[in-house]
Formats: sequence, structure tokens, C-alpha cells
Amino acid sequence: MRQSVAQAIRGALLERDPRAKTMAARRIARDWRLGRLDFAFDLEMPDVPGRPDAPELLPPNRMPKRGKGGSQRGRIALWHSIAHIEFVAIDLALDMAGRFGAEMSEAFVGDFLSVAADEAMHFALIDRHLRSLGSHYGALPAHHGLWEAAYDTRHDVAARLAVVPMVLEARALDVTPATLERVRAAGDERGAAILKRILDDEIRHVRFGANHFAAVAERLNAERDSLWKLLVSRHFRGAIRPPFNDSARLAAGLSRDLYHGVA
Ligand SMILES: [Fe+2]
Ligand SMILES: [Fe+2]
Repeated sequence: MRQSVAQAIRGALLERDPRAKTMAARRIARDWRLGRLDFAFDLEMPDVPGRPDAPELLPPNRMPKRGKGGSQRGRIALWHSIAHIEFVAIDLALDMAGRFGAEMSEAFVGDFLSVAADEAMHFALIDRHLRSLGSHYGALPAHHGLWEAAYDTRHDVAARLAVVPMVLEARALDVTPATLERVRAAGDERGAAILKRILDDEIRHVRFGANHFAAVAERLNAERDSLWKLLVSRHFRGAIRPPFNDSARLAAGLSRDLYHGVA
């Protein structure tokens, strides 16, 4: 019997084991591409996805200090924090497709399933890198806040698109180049190559978000930029501040006048 895309996505979201979740995300993206899943939404997405027992999730203010960037401990802490971001990003992309696919389109589902597959690949690359440093995902505590943005916007696709791809993933475009330079300067060429690949992929993810947000704004007869600013002020608690990676943001479809002067 054919599965609905919602069934497949829900199964991957509930998966607790990182390796199983990674494989499920990549399999669903492939099955969707090959036309093996029905465009049907007969199940609800879970409010909280499956998580492994480790890492322990802590509020940001209880996270241990990362220590000096040059030490082995500091390097492991850096890669561990990126691994966690990528792990949660798998669920963010799956949830986007499974929760909002019905009201959006088949193209929307395809775009965000391909994002989920990218995030799964990013996670796998980083976990392998962590293992080469003698650690692994789950060895350290991780930041608890990332899923909150998704939970807070679970009823509104416009708010979800405004905050997750267009603020949080866009933030990754701003900060990744400096991390990449630091990693390269420390002689970690393999790590630098992983970050370069992630940066390239994230441009595409932000672009998907910006394109679908523009479509939703049009459907609502709203002006795109003012709708985005309204939703961000309502649903995003942090500040949107420089430094901005203007060229990567522009490649992703975010123009300077959208995000400059928003705080
Ligand atoms: Fe990623
Ligand atoms: Fe991403």
C-alpha cells in the first residue's frame, strides 16, 4: 500500500535515533522525488519530535562555556554545537513539509523535503568529523532553544517561513564564513570543506523560504516586506543585527532593504 507523504514524514519526525532519523529524511526525499508518496495529509505532525537520550538539552544560559577555540576541547564543542543545529534542522524541514504541505503545494513539499535531506547530510558529515576528533553527537549538552521557534509558529505558515528560513537560517549565512576562516586557519581543511558545502546549501534553503514566503504574502494580499517585519517582531525574540553577509543573503533572495534597520 502506498504511504501518504504525511505518514512518512511523521515517522521520521518521531524517530529518536540520530542515524535512523538521518536515513529516514534522505529516504523520504528520494521517495517523494520518485513519485512513491501520495500528496495526502491524513495525520498531524507531533508538537515535539523524537530526540535521543543524549545530548542533554539545556537552556542557553546553562550551557557550559566553550573554552578557547584553539584547544581540542574548544574544537569539539564547536562541532558539537553545529551538529546539534543540523540535527534540529532535519526536524524543522520535515515539519515544514508535513505540517504546511496541504495548504501550500507539491512544489513546497518537494523543496522542504530536499532541505531535510541536505540537513541530514550535513549532520552526518559533522558527526563523522566529530568522531574523527574522538567525540560524537550526544557527548556534550546542547542548546534547548532551537525547536521553540517552530513550536511558536506551528499554526501559521507565514510566521514559520518568516522566522525559520528567513531569520534563523539566514543567520547561518552571516556567521558561517568567519567560522570557516577560523577552522581553516587552525589547519582543519576537512572541516573547512564541510562548512563550505553547508554554506552553499543554506543559501538554497533561505531562497526556498523567501520564495514561498513571497507566494504566501501574495495569497494574503499583503506587502511582502511589511508582512515579514510584522511577523518577525511578533514571533522572533532575538535581534536581527549585523554583521550581515549581504552577498549570500542577496543570492538567497533577501535584499538589504528588507532586513537592515530591523531590530
Ligand atoms: Fe544545514
Ligand atoms: Fe538549512
